[in-house]
Amino acid sequence: MLFITKSVEFSASHRLYNPEWDFQKNQEVYDKCNNPNGHGHNYVLEVTVKGKPNPDTGYVIDLKKLKDILVKKVLIHLDHKHLNVDVDFLKGVIPTVENISVLIWDIVKPHITDGELYKLKLYETPNSWVEYYGEPVEIKRFGNEQ
Ligand code: NI
Repeated sequence: MLFITKSVEFSASHRLYNPEWDFQKNQEVYDKCNNPNGHGHNYVLEVTVKGKPNPDTGYVIDLKKLKDILVKKVLIHLDHKHLNVDVDFLKGVIPTVENISVLIWDIVKPHITDGELYKLKLYETPNSWVEYYGEPVEIKRFGNEQ
């Protein structure tokens, strides 16, 4: 079995804030990430597909196709956006790198028809990232605007 990865980047802003808590509690939990007007990150998304090379192409998945899926299905929604207000699939979700990763997985998975989606790695900074392998995770959606 082989594991092939495509890496793409996007820039976005967000605010980490639980609408069920007061400002003080949010400040204690999220500190600078609770800045009311948000702050930005240059995210790096790595998507790994597992499979055997197609005998005729030599590809597990054509990386141009994989990039196309990531650009058209994911980055179009996230790049240069405010994750708390601009992104339908993040509505009501605290936009941590953890939650974003789980929801990106759900978007990408049905589009991978060559090989199988194996791992999603999302860097929020060069020193901080999440790895997700698709185990079901419940993401809380809050009713109020954040
Ligand atoms: Ni942040």
